[in-house]
Amino acid sequence: MKLIVCKDYDEVSQEAAKIFEEQIERKPDSVLCLATGSTPLGLYRELSRANQAGGVDFSEVKTVNLDEYVGLEPTHPQSYRYFMNENFFNHINIKKENTHVPNGLGWAPNECAAYDDLIEKLGGIDLALLGSGLNGHIGFNEPADTLCARTHVTDLTESTIEANSRFFEKKGDVPTKAVTMGMGNILCAKKIVILITGEEKRPIVQAMIDKQFSVTTQIPATLLKLHPDVTLICDRAAFQKG
Ligand code: F6R
Repeated sequence: MKLIVCKDYDEVSQEAAKIFEEQIERKPDSVLCLATGSTPLGLYRELSRANQAGGVDFSEVKTVNLDEYVGLEPTHPQSYRYFMNENFFNHINIKKENTHVPNGLGWAPNECAAYDDLIEKLGGIDLALLGSGLNGHIGFNEPADTLCARTHVTDLTESTIEANSRFFEKKGDVPTKAVTMGMGNILCAKKIVILITGEEKRPIVQAMIDKQFSVTTQIPATLLKLHPDVTLICDRAAFQKG
């Protein structure tokens, strides 16, 4: 795993933007896997600025998002489709039909399989952007004894509902289920970039970089140790030398 420690959040966003810009320059029709949450917002701003300045062209890029809440309309302000449009897609020259977010409405197992098929039909993921939850979840692959490898519907843990309640009026409004790519989908990406910032996620960074620490489904982020091309970009607050 390649580790980049930055002085602050802005530098994390800039370092990540360089990797995405290089990827798109090298392969203009790249398939990008994207995440929501607070962490990638700076990266999306950097890439939007670069696109508007004519620096990076998204006209042939295709995207697949990691996850979506079950039960929220795409027009719901807390849905991940809405988040992606508002924070990224509306600001760049990507074709909306080339952007994909799992359908959280009326989700059935065959639709999960359809999302897997879609990723395959696009030719697989060239570059995946990830964040990590406080408990080490990736997408909505929450800590558990076993994990589903492919796209599936999952229950959110209490800690994730608590963490995500900051985006909703009240905790009771946070959906309790989500549809998410599985770790198998994610580990099939050719290249992975994970952004982790803030002191409270230090234990996750430690678990990821500690060579002695095992791989465990109880901290899904540690499964990234199994992938040959992962770059972890974190700020100083999230990094602490052991
Ligand atoms: C969202 C996702 C989640 C987030 C994680 C961290 O699409 O995949 O796993 O990356 O919950 O969220 P933030 O960045 O808000 O701390």
